[in-house]
Amino acid sequence: MSQGVKVNSRVLDMEYAVRGPIPQRAAEMAAQGRRIIPCNIGNPQALGQPPIGFYRQVLGLLENPASITRERSLRAAGITEALGEDVIDIAAAMLEGSRTGTGAYTESAGFRFIREAVAGFIDSRDDVASDSPNAADPDAILLTDGASGGAVYVLEALISGPKDGILVPIPQYPLYSATITRCGGVLVGYHPDEEQGWALGRKNLEAPLKAAVEDGIEVKAIVVINPGNPTGALLDRQSMGDVVDVAREWGLAIIADEVYQENTYGQEWCSFASLIGDEPAPLFSLHSVSKGFYGECGHRGGYLEVRHAQPVAGTNLDMRDILVKQASVNLCPNTMGQFLVHLMVTGPREGSETHRVFLEERARVLDDLQAKASMIRGYFDQMAGVECFGRTGAMYLFPRLGQLPEGKTDFDYCMALLEETGLVTVNGAGFGQAPGTHHLRIAFLPPFELIEEVMPEWVAFHNGWQG
Ligand SMILES: Cc1ncc(COP(=O)(O)O)c(C=O)c1O
Repeated sequence: MSQGVKVNSRVLDMEYAVRGPIPQRAAEMAAQGRRIIPCNIGNPQALGQPPIGFYRQVLGLLENPASITRERSLRAAGITEALGEDVIDIAAAMLEGSRTGTGAYTESAGFRFIREAVAGFIDSRDDVASDSPNAADPDAILLTDGASGGAVYVLEALISGPKDGILVPIPQYPLYSATITRCGGVLVGYHPDEEQGWALGRKNLEAPLKAAVEDGIEVKAIVVINPGNPTGALLDRQSMGDVVDVAREWGLAIIADEVYQENTYGQEWCSFASLIGDEPAPLFSLHSVSKGFYGECGHRGGYLEVRHAQPVAGTNLDMRDILVKQASVNLCPNTMGQFLVHLMVTGPREGSETHRVFLEERARVLDDLQAKASMIRGYFDQMAGVECFGRTGAMYLFPRLGQLPEGKTDFDYCMALLEETGLVTVNGAGFGQAPGTHHLRIAFLPPFELIEEVMPEWVAFHNGWQG
């Protein structure tokens, strides 16, 4: 072992399977010219999904304000390739709303006019009148560098010592386990009921809470991801109600990760904000420009909304003040991400040509995702012992693999599947899973034809794998 610098052991201990040894091996294979089908990560534009034109047209104008004048003159001269008038007007209004454009630091919580737009979006999404006591408050919204930024702020603030716990679903998106490890807290896992479509249920939530309390752990919050990652499953109302009841009775805050709220494929979805209404359950909800039909992962835009902010012990502050304080140390979220959040929550002007094209692009992306998911699910029926539970949501399927050859793990399975077919997946253990079960997560993002080509090879691999 080398005599190197001693680093924070919590950073060393963090794990993030989505970028672990399987994709590393896939990168080596790709470098050797072998075919790779990267179904390991929810990064749509890396896998060929084109950006939504309207977003990029506006962002282009924002980065280069002089082009607004140019585009206006082109339009006045009747040049047909000029951008739509509404696009130019929207960009101009956003620049004016921001006052300082893209190149200056902003308020730590992000541009106020964008936080106002986010509040309007939440109210109209949840069907709440803007003068209702349940209306969203722009001052309780922070724009963040992706949803990850918001989740990290909340966990960093809540975990005050080694006996502080966060209740997290198993399986879970590893941002949560990694951040809890880094903050030195305890991950208290709860197990949704896989065979009931990953439903929650009070027993599943309360059993680990009781065990944690017996171990002297103070559980501060419960994380809920809806639709789920890695399961993709959409929560039913009963499960959501159980979360709210348990949170209230046990004094937990709810961290509602709702980044996949657009990826519901025609099924009903409701936010935790609308469910808790004016009931006193502290809520942190997260949304992002990375997912949905937008897929703008690289732009790192997101927001965190706080409801029923808890007072902070020993101070006259509340959790919202603490989060803004944390944000202020980072100065501000990146401006292009903020502007994209604005576009995500507003969109083009209804009735315009831009709007028509936008709707077409949106439908194309979401229909394609849905078609890929159901095509993959269809192939599971041909794989001995494979079952996939839950309603399809997000960008993932999380099939249970059934019995594996003696001594073999789902990591071995995914590695062998990669070597044999080029299909890159993430093994279930990377997200946590019920003991004795084996899974993998497949993101249904690469082009339909490519996935369709590899599925029969996966079936043959699965049914023939001896380990
Ligand atoms: C459940 C969930 N939450 C948060 C994130 C992070 O999103 P962002 O790119 O907005 O940081 C992801 C990314 O895959 C995710 O799956």
